[in-house]
Amino acid sequence: CGICGVVGHRQATPIVFEGLRRLEYRGYDSAGVATLNADGHIERRRAAGKLDNLGKILEQTPLHGKTAIGHTRWATHGAPTETNAHPHGTARVAIVHNGIIENFETLRTELEAEGQSFETETDSETIAKLVDHYLGAGQSPREAAFSALRRLEGAYAIAMIFAEHEGLMIGARHGAPLAVGFGDGEMFLGSDSLALAPLTRRIAYLDDGDCVVLNRDGAEFFDHSGERVERTIQTTALIAGAVGKDGYRHYMEKELHEHPLVIGQTLQRMIDPATRRVVLPEMPFDLATIPRAVITACGSAFYAGVVGRYWLEEIARLPVDIDVASEMRYRNPPLTPGSLGILISQSGETADTLAALRGFKNAGLPILSILNAEHSSMARDSDAVLGTVAGPEISVASTKAFTAQLTVLACLTIAIARMRGELDADGEEELVSALLDLPSRAADVFTHGDAIRQMASVVAEARDVLYLGRGSAYPVAMEGALKLKEISYIHAEAYAAGEMKHGPISLIDRTVPIVATVPSGVLFDKTLSNLQEAKARGGRLLAFTDEVGRDRLSAIAEQTIALPKVHPFVTPIIQTIGVQMLAYETALLKGTDVDQPRNLAKSVTVE
Ligand code: G6P
Repeated sequence: CGICGVVGHRQATPIVFEGLRRLEYRGYDSAGVATLNADGHIERRRAAGKLDNLGKILEQTPLHGKTAIGHTRWATHGAPTETNAHPHGTARVAIVHNGIIENFETLRTELEAEGQSFETETDSETIAKLVDHYLGAGQSPREAAFSALRRLEGAYAIAMIFAEHEGLMIGARHGAPLAVGFGDGEMFLGSDSLALAPLTRRIAYLDDGDCVVLNRDGAEFFDHSGERVERTIQTTALIAGAVGKDGYRHYMEKELHEHPLVIGQTLQRMIDPATRRVVLPEMPFDLATIPRAVITACGSAFYAGVVGRYWLEEIARLPVDIDVASEMRYRNPPLTPGSLGILISQSGETADTLAALRGFKNAGLPILSILNAEHSSMARDSDAVLGTVAGPEISVASTKAFTAQLTVLACLTIAIARMRGELDADGEEELVSALLDLPSRAADVFTHGDAIRQMASVVAEARDVLYLGRGSAYPVAMEGALKLKEISYIHAEAYAAGEMKHGPISLIDRTVPIVATVPSGVLFDKTLSNLQEAKARGGRLLAFTDEVGRDRLSAIAEQTIALPKVHPFVTPIIQTIGVQMLAYETALLKGTDVDQPRNLAKSVTVE
């Protein structure tokens, strides 16, 4: 969910609405705004579905007021209806909330026993009713907010406004991010600096457990014990204009075309052009002596981590454990002392990844995070950060951030391999050259648009699709299958090609196309044998290979796309662009909402 709030001197609703537009990537099940009108009464407008629905309502019945909060929701408790949309409130208080209140049922029972009635199925309404309860008992807004916050368990970011208290807003953060923006005679709250980017570049982030009291002229911060504290104001580098489609039909299409650029930008950060060696920033731990790495992430970032495991094990000879963060955080694995915890995240805010990070930290592991959002919660909790220079990624389905993560992992692998004595200068030169070759080779992938569209016409007819790959092409198959599921709503499953014979082979018939990622290299023949097994059972093969593998695949596949031939080390990066484009073209044929697929959110800040 996304939160935006303004206390200022201008009409606040349009400002909040634009902020919500920039936060819609966090959820788009419903949206709403509340303001204080000229009489100091709370008024709100809410709508189920996308933000545009709220926009229409605001056009018909505008809200006037200089103090406003808004919310864009990704449903957790309660269906995505208008009733369940935020802000929630009473005549005295309105709140917006991101996260989950774990003890809401207890609180609700208690409040109901006192005669409070509830309109919604949400956990969030309980917060409003609880604050109202304390206001009713004669507490000031500040006291009531603090009293209520002390009773909440779970993860949240909250913003509140109070009837008759124009120019007052209270925010709180516990496990979900919240940022304060400083303007001239106006102040802002937002889930992240992207929401606030057009308004101000002066941002302070709440620490976990913090509360903030805003008025037009500034902010007072309080820590979890209620002590007054200072939080540093940072100047963000985000440029307001960086978020636009630039003539592309979708953000996803634009972001796909940014692959060459972001790979290049990320390499520029990590490779010294004079020496052609990977240069890592100073880190407060020694990468040369770590006994193993434990990688965790969610979604696409997890698949980037799986590619990283193949690289770190094979090239740096470093043992690697990896799991999705929602499992890792509760697995309580025995962690070898001194192991390096590696977290991968575009947003730096994903709740499960953040929790896994904190688990690693509590176990005493040094933490290295690979992040696109360098001011995020994960960045602040890490010992070292390697940035992916992908710029804002708006499409919910990740594209360029994923290849930027792979680029960073490739450079990290080279550096660790060198430090561990597994890679000599010639070896490093060879791998660095392969990386530096990538931006132009990545651009060449777009020349295959027609062939990919043709492949998409087969995939779009299917109900189920099987993706197959081996070695580092296996996580590419996983990423391809995830992308297809996410944006075209076609069921897709990725399997290690050699494992297919142990189960999914029973699914194969003419109606289940097989998308294979088969770059030339040591596993080419092995994968080809697996594909023969599928073909022998009537499977329709659609293959992504390269110029070297083209002829042999064409002999068995219904369609073969020969992507540019690159060094085997970097093939996963090139192959990824191919499978992501296939998902995009398929979604276009299916007519789905490519940038904002149903039920998903870009940044999932709840568990
Ligand atoms: C969500 C998105 C995915 C993304 C995952 C992890 O599920 O829909 O596209 O890969 O979160 O996000 P992160 O910001 O941690 O990389």
